[in-house]
Amino acid sequence: MTSRILVLASGSGSLLQALLDSPAGEAVVAVGSDTADAFALQRAAEAGIAAFTVSPVDFDSRADWNAGLLAAIRAVEPDLIVSAGFMRIIGAEIIEAYRGRIINTHPALLPSFPGAHGVRDALVYGVKVTGCTVHFVDEGVDTGSVIAQAAVAIEPGDTEESLHERIKVHERRLLVDVVTQMIGAQQ
Ligand code: GRF
Repeated sequence: MTSRILVLASGSGSLLQALLDSPAGEAVVAVGSDTADAFALQRAAEAGIAAFTVSPVDFDSRADWNAGLLAAIRAVEPDLIVSAGFMRIIGAEIIEAYRGRIINTHPALLPSFPGAHGVRDALVYGVKVTGCTVHFVDEGVDTGSVIAQAAVAIEPGDTEESLHERIKVHERRLLVDVVTQMIGAQQ
C-alpha cells in the first residue's frame, strides 16, 4: 500500500519543498492551508499536487473551522498528516480522528520554547543552543511526544531571521528523515 501524505502549511513551504524534492515526495498527495496566499500552495501547484484552503475567515467559529478542516482532511484520506509551518492549532476532533498520524515540526528543542515564537524566545532567553523538533501532535500546543531533534548553536549577532534560516536547514533534513522512516514502516 502506498502511503498518502497530507502536508499542512501556512507560509513559504520550504519544508514542504524539501519533502517534495525527496523520495518521500512521491507520497505527498495534497497540501492544505489556512490561507490562500501561502506560497506553499504555489509549490503544490508547481508539483501538480492537489491543494485546499480552509480559511478561518470563512467560518463563524473556531469549531466550525475545525469541522471544515476535518472534512477537507478526510477527503484526502491521508495515512500521515505533516504540519510544516501550519500556524493554526489543530482541534481535538481532528487529533482524535488521526491520533498517532499527525506530526509537527517546531523550530526549537521542545519542551523549551513552544508556541508561535520559539526562535525569538530562545534568542531573547539567551540560550547558547537551540534547534528543531519533530513530534506527534496531541491536544496541547507543541506538547506531543518527541520523535526526533537536531541541535543548532546560536551564533553572536544572530537575528531571529538568521537563526531561523539556519534552523530550517536542519529542520528540512530532520523532517525528511522522519517522514521517510514513517512511511517506510507503513509500506
Ligand atoms: C518552520 O521553521 C516551522 O518549524 C515553523 O515555521 C517554519 C516553516 O517554514 N513552524 P517554511 O514555511 O516551510 O519555510
